[in-house]
Amino acid sequence: MPYDSADDPAWNPLIDAARAAMANAYAPYSSYAVGAALACGDGSVVAGCNVENASYGGTICAERGAVSAAVASGRRIYDACVVMTRAAEPAYPCGLCRQTLNEFAPRLPILLVSQTTGARRLVRLDEILPGAFGPASLKL
Ligand code: THU
Repeated sequence: MPYDSADDPAWNPLIDAARAAMANAYAPYSSYAVGAALACGDGSVVAGCNVENASYGGTICAERGAVSAAVASGRRIYDACVVMTRAAEPAYPCGLCRQTLNEFAPRLPILLVSQTTGARRLVRLDEILPGAFGPASLKL
């Protein structure tokens, strides 16, 4: 199955898109650029980068930027996600981004990639967000 292992070639277009988005990151405060790319159910790839703000709390992460762009273009089904940074160790999505991804794809395979070392780590969202609060949780 595609996305079952970290070296599956199916990741390549997502890695390329995440790298391109990361190059556009607006991160003047942290200097920590992040790129994210989603494989959408229709075969398209939608990417995002972090967009920081002088009011620090207004910062948008790359993953949430990618989800917003995808939803705005009518795409709500995601098969896989790549998150890329320049950190030597592949970096995990923050809690807020895990929650946002969970809304649409609770079992999403996520490949964490270091642009610097090329190191990869494959995780699944339900593994890094156990006991998630999701749409079904709102049922009384
Ligand atoms: N950041 C992301 O884009 N995604 C994450 O999952 C973690 C953090 C960004 C936010 C901020 O611009 C910078 O990384 C440092 O926290």
